[in-house]
Amino acid sequence: MLAGRRDQTGTDFDALAATALDRCDVLARCTEHEGQITRTFLSPAMEKCHEHVRVWMEDAGMSVSVDRAGNLRGYYADADRSENVPRLVIASHLDTVPHAGRYDGILGVMLGIAMIEALYGRRLSFGIEVVGFSDEEGVRYGLPFIGSRAFIGKLLPPHLARRDANGVAMFAALDRYASAHPDVVSAAHHPHTRGYLEFHIEQGPVLEHAGLALGVVETIAGQSRAMLTFRGRAGHAGTTPMFLRRDALAAAAEWLVAVESASRMMPGLVATTGRISCEPGAANVVPGEVRCSLDVRHGDDAIRQAAVRNFLDTAIAIGGRREIEVERLVEYEQAAVDLDAGLIALADKAVSSAGVSPRHMTSGAGHDAMIVASQIPTAMIFLRHPGGISHHPDEAVLVEDVASALRAGLHFLDYFPEHLQNHLQRLTESEPDSCTT
Ligand code: GLV
Ligand code: MN
Ligand code: MN
Repeated sequence: MLAGRRDQTGTDFDALAATALDRCDVLARCTEHEGQITRTFLSPAMEKCHEHVRVWMEDAGMSVSVDRAGNLRGYYADADRSENVPRLVIASHLDTVPHAGRYDGILGVMLGIAMIEALYGRRLSFGIEVVGFSDEEGVRYGLPFIGSRAFIGKLLPPHLARRDANGVAMFAALDRYASAHPDVVSAAHHPHTRGYLEFHIEQGPVLEHAGLALGVVETIAGQSRAMLTFRGRAGHAGTTPMFLRRDALAAAAEWLVAVESASRMMPGLVATTGRISCEPGAANVVPGEVRCSLDVRHGDDAIRQAAVRNFLDTAIAIGGRREIEVERLVEYEQAAVDLDAGLIALADKAVSSAGVSPRHMTSGAGHDAMIVASQIPTAMIFLRHPGGISHHPDEAVLVEDVASALRAGLHFLDYFPEHLQNHLQRLTESEPDSCTT
């Protein structure tokens, strides 16, 4: 119904949007488990996904490579085909959580490709790199943002030493990947990268509630992840009286409920235990050891950190009462991140030019943008997310909103030279006056 409507520039945004969504459907079939969407870091499913995305990038006029961190990178050169021009990166991630939806991350990469397609071969004064990051969700190594960390040179030895559930260290997996792809390029971003733009479904209900197709992200909430081990004593389920038990799962359960109640009391605080293992794991054995993940988020870092301390102390207190030893390991702390004011202003203009009143938002979800923002001016545009359910097969998006995002993206490309100009001006202003030396 929508296809075929061209705007005054002749760009068929609706058809390009429909294609971007069709591609999300194709990639949904690149999965580790038939019947659901699960695609983790460096998996065969990710290889299949790359095969498709590579073809779409090449057909759009990009030169394509994979890098040492398993990121897929398509470069659309500037009008002069010069290596030394500024470039804009448009990116998101291609990995998923287990049993995921089809748009989280993926749609951002498909929109990057669609933006290049919407240029119909026209080259700009700057280069554009579209990147599909290899891991944002942290499923395989319990560490999120592997692809974007490598992109900014912050994939560090302790990260590389982490092991997956099969005992494979990250550095070994990456070495194997590089041997299988002898043409891998460096994972570092190009030194002339001057901006980063990420489109993403909102993963929440705010835009839908406001009746807006798009939103502009101002801040991304910080997050902490920890692992708790509750160690009790396994025993016979039929012969161990209740008062003599040291049940690790009962202790963990008491702790979980305490964390839930405390989080409900603090506006904006969210805390989740999404992974739990119980050993020895038989119906007729009292649980001896339980491991629980903990994910805590808030827009205010001080509130998040205080909450984490409180949750860890609560675990010790509950363990003390039940003769359960508790081991706590904070695995990851990511501070809240403010995105670049200059690029936010460009995104505002781009969204307005696409006919949507720009609304600023805080993202409760983590994004590659929050990692990249430490080194590259970064902006993020959210798309309305009907139903607001994410990390779930019911993720949804409207084709007309994807077309609006595409329109905003093309306006962003029009305005990006203003940002480059400001960058140049700042550099000149900060240069010491050579005559005075
Ligand atoms: C990423 O999707 C996250 O926020 O966990
Ligand atoms: Mn996600
Ligand atoms: Mn995501």
